[in-house]
This record gives sequence, structure tokens and C-alpha cells, in this order.
Amino acid sequence: MRISTHLTLGVSLILLLLSGCSQTPTTSLYQQLGGETGIAAITDGLLDEIARDKRIVHHFADTDIERFRRLLAEQLCQLSGGPCVYSGGTMQESHTGFNISLADYDALVDGLIKVMQQQNISISAQNQLLALLAPMYKDISYR
Ligand code: HEM
Repeated sequence: MRISTHLTLGVSLILLLLSGCSQTPTTSLYQQLGGETGIAAITDGLLDEIARDKRIVHHFADTDIERFRRLLAEQLCQLSGGPCVYSGGTMQESHTGFNISLADYDALVDGLIKVMQQQNISISAQNQLLALLAPMYKDISYR
């Protein structure tokens, strides 16, 4: 065997060992949010927050809340890497015409953070979820 082959094998072996060392068990965001039960609780909590929030509740006056609950839970599940397939409309389709402002968006996100705190979701998991939701803003608010 040539020296270069030995070197290549040696480097490969070291890389393999290093990659093995770094394989600490990772917990998906979905699991960190408590899986199906945790996401159902977050969704229900958020719906309660919306219902109590005079700044935004009017937007939901004509909404089929059961459908909204199901689709929001599906979306949070899929977004966090869970075994769901979101079956609702695009964020753009679903929010067009509601005249949702940045303040409305912030109010809903405030509610979500409050619920996640109450449910003892780690700050890291909260931030991961918020980071996934943040880019949707441009499709939700047109003001
Ligand atoms: C993180 C931000 C948000 C997410 C992930 C989100 C997600 C969703 C989802 C999944 C639906 C159901 C889609 C469908 O019906 O097919 C929906 C509908 C709706 N969302 Fe949002 N939403 C967000 C922000 C907001 C905000 C800030 C408001 C207003 C304050 C709002 C108001 C509504 C309303 C009124 C509907 C129901 C529309 C209807 O009745 O047809 N959403 N949203």
C-alpha cells in the first residue's frame, strides 16, 4: 500500500471517529414542544389568548375555530419536524383581506410566547419556533 493510501485511510478513520463523538442524541423541536400533546396544548392556549385579546379577537369573528385549531396544530407540528402534513391554505391565501398589522402580528406572537412560558417550553425551543414563524410575517400582514 502506498503512503498516500495510508494517509487517506488514516484521515478517514479520524473523521469517522470524530463524527461518532459529535453524535449526541438530538431532540427535534417537535419533541421539545411536547409532541402531539404539547402542540395541542400550545394551540389551545393560543386560542384562549386570542379570545381574550381585544386587540386582535375581532379578526376571528367569522372564523370556523375548530378548523383553525386543527390547521394551526398541523402547521406547528409540520414546521417543528413532526409527523404531520399541513393541509390548510397558504399563509398568503388565508390572511388576505384581514388587514393584519404588525401590531396585530406582535400581539399574537406575545400570546404564543406567554403560552409557551406557561407550558415550560425551554427558551431555546421557543426561539426556534419563533424563528420558523418569523418569515411568514410578510405573507400575513400587508400593512
Ligand atoms: C405566526 C403567525 C401566524 C400563523 C402561523 C398563522 C396560521 C394560520 C393558519 C394555519 C390558519 C388556517 C389556514 C386555513 O384556513 O387554511 C390561519 C387562519 C387565520 N389567521 Fe393566522 N396565523 C398567524 C398570524 C395571524 C395573525 C397575526 C392574525 C390576526 C391577528 C391571524 C388571523 C387569522 C384569521 C382571522 C384566520 C382565519 C381565516 C378564515 O377564517 O378563513 N393570523 N392562520
